[in-house]
Amino acid sequence: MNPAEPEIRIFDDADALAAGAAKEFAVRAREAIGRFAVSLSGGSTPRKLYSLLATTAGIEWAKVHFFWGDERHVPPDHPDSNYRVAREALFSAIRPPEANIHRIGAEEADAAMAALAYEKDLRSFFGAGGTTHDQNGATSRRPRSGAEGGAWPRFDLMLLGMGPDGHTASLFPGATALDVLDRWVASAWVEKFKSFRITLTFPVINHTSCVMFLVSGADKAAMLKRVVRDHEGLPSGRVKPESGKLLWMVDRAAAAQL
Ligand code: 6PG
Repeated sequence: MNPAEPEIRIFDDADALAAGAAKEFAVRAREAIGRFAVSLSGGSTPRKLYSLLATTAGIEWAKVHFFWGDERHVPPDHPDSNYRVAREALFSAIRPPEANIHRIGAEEADAAMAALAYEKDLRSFFGAGGTTHDQNGATSRRPRSGAEGGAWPRFDLMLLGMGPDGHTASLFPGATALDVLDRWVASAWVEKFKSFRITLTFPVINHTSCVMFLVSGADKAAMLKRVVRDHEGLPSGRVKPESGKLLWMVDRAAAAQL
């Protein structure tokens, strides 16, 4: 299947961007039949969105299952933890069932073990009654086992950010994780941060029903043009949901060079 053309929505500022993303999240969550599997992004941009979602009516949080696209190799209460951002800005308000929070166990000393454990959780969720998506684009609810069966998990919604270097999740330019195509989760050393990261891989990202990038700020403008207009082969540019929607939710400052 050919990936659909990305849709770019430009908002006046970061607050309007967060409001637009919250509305899109809410519409999709309300429309979901049964469970709604969402992969949250890291970084600072989504914080406003999470705070808005905390006061958004009409979302049945008990059916929403929270995952992460990536995590820093730190404990859950560390200031750098992507989980901690969501816990403080969203979970503390909506109090979802603990079983619905599929945290990456990044406190594990061995990042590769943390990646394996997260992948096991994903397989358990998506195999047991979740939806998987085989290489021909057919979705199935049969428990399928990952790459062997050619099946991949299918998130209903995935939030992603983009770094000024064009990375997304923890898929950084030149990183070995970019080439991991037979696993659902990878761990990789990130030289610029002198630390490990745990991240979903491109096949998982590209089997998502709707990927929503949130990009805000003038510091992202040059890279956003390179990714969205010049189609340079940067990691963020490799996000092309095979049979899903790609939404770029950007503010005017980030869109200045589009
Ligand atoms: C992370 C993220 C990363 C982030 C971008 C944008 O763990 O840091 O997953 O991909 O989304 O770096 O970060 P900002 O939103 O802070 O600009």
